[in-house]
Amino acid sequence: MSTVTSPTVLEATGLEVSFPVVRGGHRTTVRAVRGVDLSIAAGETLGIVGESGSGKSTLARAVMRLIPAEGAVELLGTDVSGLSEREFRAHRRKVQMVFQDPYSSLNPSLTVGQSVAEPLKVHTKMSGPERRSRVEEVLDLVGLRAEFADRYPDEFSGGQRQRIAIARAIILEPEILICDEAVSALDVSTQNQVLSLLESLRERLGLSYLFISHDLAVVRHISDHVAVMYLGEVLEQGPVDRIFERPAHPYTQVLLEAVPEPEPELQRSTTKRVLEGEIPDPTNPPPGCPFQSRCPFAMDVCSEPMPVVEIEGGGISRCHLHTSGPRLGGAPLASLDDAVATQEQQETR
Ligand SMILES: Nc1ncnc2c1ncn2[C@@H]1O[C@H](COP(=O)(O)OP(=O)(O)OP(=O)(O)O)[C@@H](O)[C@H]1O
Ligand SMILES: [Mg+2]
Repeated sequence: MSTVTSPTVLEATGLEVSFPVVRGGHRTTVRAVRGVDLSIAAGETLGIVGESGSGKSTLARAVMRLIPAEGAVELLGTDVSGLSEREFRAHRRKVQMVFQDPYSSLNPSLTVGQSVAEPLKVHTKMSGPERRSRVEEVLDLVGLRAEFADRYPDEFSGGQRQRIAIARAIILEPEILICDEAVSALDVSTQNQVLSLLESLRERLGLSYLFISHDLAVVRHISDHVAVMYLGEVLEQGPVDRIFERPAHPYTQVLLEAVPEPEPELQRSTTKRVLEGEIPDPTNPPPGCPFQSRCPFAMDVCSEPMPVVEIEGGGISRCHLHTSGPRLGGAPLASLDDAVATQEQQETR
């Protein structure tokens, strides 16, 4: 029996991004992305979740090479991190991006057709009529009528504008689409329509997605794998069902507890934990685990480098509780409730 593994379309290794800032009159750096490893297989969607400021957009911009980053990025097996801007040009069209706000990403003084055709002007030698017919083709792909090409963005609704932005993003036949909060500004029913569109485009065009959202329900719906970011680092990643049904890292567990459960009897825990403590200053992250200042299970060992622990059911979690938690006697952490129970048991002994 042979197993077919899809080729990797995107692989980032040890990705680091720092921004120079001035704080209290001193020059320092915000460490927005710190040593992130991730990979996406062909045809797959990797969801990125994490609170505001955890580095999701910075990660996307680094992968797109819109900002300078340390570490390696491979696109379809080619290491592009060492390439000059000129050398990278040939690879740029393989990765395209859709942003949250189609109002600001579409130039109001250009017709829809002109906006959607722009990448063709930059990257191909197509004639005007060739561009026009390709524009009509992609408008059809995203469910818009050909004659919309002659109208202006402000004549369209939010959902239609997002379809126009998607049309422009796919016109060069990219391999990877990065969606940064691409449906976050839309109402729920429009969100669902745009998500279905993205799913059907993935099938029809063989796309892979890096899908960033703070909305966990949306990420669960569309992703195959999920990475959980906190203060610039990935604390847990794995297959979507394992992450949502059996989150291994305390941070993931707390994050999921904050999602309202539609059926109360399925509620993960009766006592919801509220996060206390402060998110550390990104110019001066603590050594070891960045979540230790808010983690209910923080131990001395948490200021040591984080382990990378393989979790049953797939993926990894970077928590000392799995390996060296004295309270758990080294047992894997099945849920926060188990951990609390074990903790209470030990305290009453
Ligand atoms: N151009 C910049 N200059 C300085 N700091 C920046 C810059 N861009 C982002 N940051 C900082 O980097 C960190 C990560 O920001 P980023 O926008 O990537 O987070 P995010 O996860 O996308 O958040 P959100 O959910 O709000 O979009 C934050 O501390 C942010 O303040
Ligand atoms: Mg962002």
